[in-house]
Amino acid sequence: FRILCVVGARPNFMKMAPIMAALSALRPHVDVKLVHTGQHYDVAMNHQYFEALGIPSPDINLEVGSGSHAQQTAEVMKKFEPALDEVQPTAVLVVGDVNSTIACALVAAKKGVPVIHVEAGLRSFDRAMPEEINRVLTDQISDLLFTTEESGEENLLREGVAAHRIQFVGNVMIDTLVRNLPRAIPAATIVADAGRPGLADGAQGYAVLTLHRPSNVDDPAVLRTLLETAAAIARRTPVIFPLHPRTRGMIEKAGLNHLVEGPNVLLLPPMGYLEMLGLMKQARVVLTDSGGIQEETTALGVPCITLRNNTERPITVEQGTNTIAGQDPARILAIYEEVMGGGGEAGRVPRFWDGQAAVRIAAALQAWMQNGCQTS
Ligand code: UD1
Repeated sequence: FRILCVVGARPNFMKMAPIMAALSALRPHVDVKLVHTGQHYDVAMNHQYFEALGIPSPDINLEVGSGSHAQQTAEVMKKFEPALDEVQPTAVLVVGDVNSTIACALVAAKKGVPVIHVEAGLRSFDRAMPEEINRVLTDQISDLLFTTEESGEENLLREGVAAHRIQFVGNVMIDTLVRNLPRAIPAATIVADAGRPGLADGAQGYAVLTLHRPSNVDDPAVLRTLLETAAAIARRTPVIFPLHPRTRGMIEKAGLNHLVEGPNVLLLPPMGYLEMLGLMKQARVVLTDSGGIQEETTALGVPCITLRNNTERPITVEQGTNTIAGQDPARILAIYEEVMGGGGEAGRVPRFWDGQAAVRIAAALQAWMQNGCQTS
């Protein structure tokens, strides 16, 4: 048996690290290969994650780079097909919901190679979000679907996916968090290295802000409103703001730099995994439009204010520390005030977010292979 694992963009790396580790325990019965599509290519978005998380170097690099959705997805497909022909895997394993996920799943499915999808079934029910389209389509062509929370199974069953294909295994991203928490880089070190020692030491603590969704950063009016809201928060609490390349580009293009240049805002380049973990762990509050950070803050018990109108990860609201705030400044500030006043749900860590999800996946894959790659 041979499993070809696919990564492409930053949020894939922390999901794949524990899967690669758990699958390597199945050797020599299972051969594991890794392909990197190159959707993300900057050192800050890419190489430093491989190093920090101990992910083996990819066996194959497709080096597709950036482009429109059609260009990027097509480029991954064109370059992944010969790689698939060369490796001849028993199955292709994809994670998450980025363009590389759907592109490689589609190539494999059309060639009759079974697709395994980790983090299946999440739904925002918002088709304006490119990842929602990637999620729905990938799940439809997957043979084995591993879910992170109970809502995933409900969504998949409603969409007609056979129950025997679905397994609730928990959250591999939290496997990575549990494993690396002791190595998290302290916030004090990060702000000192950035030339702002003491920024994180005040009685108010600090807030962490991340923004990268097209719906928040591509429209200059929306971006301006969100940055003005961040500036208002910074008058009370220092705001640490690591900038995704897309966001940095849009702030410059829209001429909004002055909004994030105040003395209480610290702009940083994209953080490495251990740096981001340290920043989140000690934060008073995290404001974000990321999917993964909603889950990581729930696992850490840190309040999260989600700057979107919906979430595909409802358990972070129902059980965790997440509040959906949208883009309205008054609502964001009201939730922020509540959190700073000590209000809001304390939250608990959801079932199977325990560091063992990848081990469950490896066990399920072993059983599947022993059953002739059949789920029933
Ligand atoms: C992608 C994912 C998104 C995920 C995010 C995490 C899709 C549809 N979107 O969005 O789900 O949350 O990654 O980061 O797959 N760029 C660089 N260096 C890089 C990569 C990108 O400068 O290494 C810049 C380029 O200008 C590029 C832009 O960022 O055009 C967007 O990159 P892209 O991969 O298209 O999507 P993300 O916004 O990163």
